[in-house]
Amino acid sequence: MPQKPPLRSAGVYGKKDRDGFIHRSWMKSQGLPDDSFDGRPIVGLCNTWSELTPCNAHLRILAEHVKRGVWQAGGVPLEFPVSSLGETQIRPTAMLFRNLLAMDVEEALRGYAMDGVVLLGGCDKTTPGQLMGAASVDLPTLVVSSGPMLSGKFRGETIGSGTDVWRLSEAARAGEISEDSFFSAEAAMSRSAGVCNTMGTASTIGSLCEALGVALPGNASIPAVDARRRTMAHMAGRRIVALVQENLPLSTFLTRATFENAIRVHAAIGGSTNTVVHLLALAGRCGVTLTLEDFDQLSRDIPLLVDLKPSGRFLMEDFDYAGGMPAVMNHISHVLHTNAPTVSGQTIGEIAAGGESFNTEVIRPLASPVNASSGTWVLRGNLAPGGAIMKPNAASAHLLVHEGPAVVFESIEDFKARVDDPDLDVTADSIMVLKQCGPKGYPGMPEVGNMPLPKKLLEQGVRDMVRISDARMSGTAYGTVILHVSPESYMGGPLALVQNGDRIKLDGPARTLSLLVDDAELTRRRAAWQVPPPPPNSERGYVNLHVNHVMQAETGCDLDFLVGKSGSTVTRESH
Ligand code: FES
Repeated sequence: MPQKPPLRSAGVYGKKDRDGFIHRSWMKSQGLPDDSFDGRPIVGLCNTWSELTPCNAHLRILAEHVKRGVWQAGGVPLEFPVSSLGETQIRPTAMLFRNLLAMDVEEALRGYAMDGVVLLGGCDKTTPGQLMGAASVDLPTLVVSSGPMLSGKFRGETIGSGTDVWRLSEAARAGEISEDSFFSAEAAMSRSAGVCNTMGTASTIGSLCEALGVALPGNASIPAVDARRRTMAHMAGRRIVALVQENLPLSTFLTRATFENAIRVHAAIGGSTNTVVHLLALAGRCGVTLTLEDFDQLSRDIPLLVDLKPSGRFLMEDFDYAGGMPAVMNHISHVLHTNAPTVSGQTIGEIAAGGESFNTEVIRPLASPVNASSGTWVLRGNLAPGGAIMKPNAASAHLLVHEGPAVVFESIEDFKARVDDPDLDVTADSIMVLKQCGPKGYPGMPEVGNMPLPKKLLEQGVRDMVRISDARMSGTAYGTVILHVSPESYMGGPLALVQNGDRIKLDGPARTLSLLVDDAELTRRRAAWQVPPPPPNSERGYVNLHVNHVMQAETGCDLDFLVGKSGSTVTRESH
């Protein structure tokens, strides 16, 4: 039997010298007994709790349950805060700060002498940022997500986070409901702690944590306020101690095989487009080779099995009662790497074997899917040489192949100023193009790609149009929306050269996106193109760092100097 290496914390709390005295003495000021430092696993609880991140506002409660499990298993839990990103609150966009959170997490995990860590996150960017930072340190790691909020209920109707904001907002702008009705839905939609109750980005990431094997079964779907989530947190506390004792770092679980599992599950659940940038960035931290094309290739034979908003009808609460992720993985186990290990101690195959759908309307069998095809379409062409993506399940069938004239907005301000102008030259066949919303240009690649439709078209009954941008869109959004166009317009990508009236052709099934302008004209436009002024607030500080180092969407928008890992070794003492 190979000898287990000594615990990482022993090199700090086990020292019989002045440094050891200092480390232990100050920790004992919290009431920790002497034997806390006798070689027991020190478990960090990396918490993105914040009242400015309402989706994570209950994480201090869950942390208490994780602690119970850690104590029970013989470890010592130590909770610490990292920065938090409230998707609906922070401006100009939470994505601008995902990599900052990842840096915060990475340095905390390396700098403090913990043996393992539980990542408490949930709201869209918090879990990806935490996982990216943790992957660059590679300690034993386990994710406990916030869990979804309860289903929204409004005037006899079930309403879902985000998705029904977009729908009700368009209905109000079209004059179908009053402004009063629209605003009175606010409290009814967000009824409890937890993340968005649709299959938005947070619930998608929570689901993929199960598929990646870094969270316990139920992590994605057990409602935030359900006692079973506290039980799961308790069990997570026990399991992280076991992972430390078994010396199983995060890289045990984050492999090419589990990324493939995650991409296939992503298709089956109709997950958020934002997952693409997060998984690409995470793979970059782990040294796993993953490309944009993998998302298209690996999801081609996976049908949409889960009938959840924004692609379908139900919400995360329904998904949980129907069997959650184990049921989905049971249905697609034939395409999963079933021998992949998970933090639970079971393999993915063992978890899938125990899964069952208890409501075949919500989690459909393979024989009668919600949609025969799903996943992510990766488009290429002279408008997106670096790639672009779309979510076919969220698009309108009649627009999947479409040619139309461009209506160009040079920035988000230009869009907001003109979209409802009665004189705007736009029809249902037009293709709306939005520039300057990429990773560098906005900065931070905001969720504005699902541009609201022009009011005059809404009043005519139009509910979808082809929209193209270098932005992202909310995981709760829908429409025939082409996102993540690369290179972004700020960098002088072809998107920057599009002019009003240019013909654009989308051929989704052929995976092409073409600007039907001849090469000579594009060369002329490129010669005349001028580098835009610096993005707002980018003269100094973190935003300056971001703009100078963020990579394009097809590699996940990490900062170039953060790719890869540095491990957990610290060679110098603090005194
Ligand atoms: Fe936090 Fe949707 S806004 S999860």
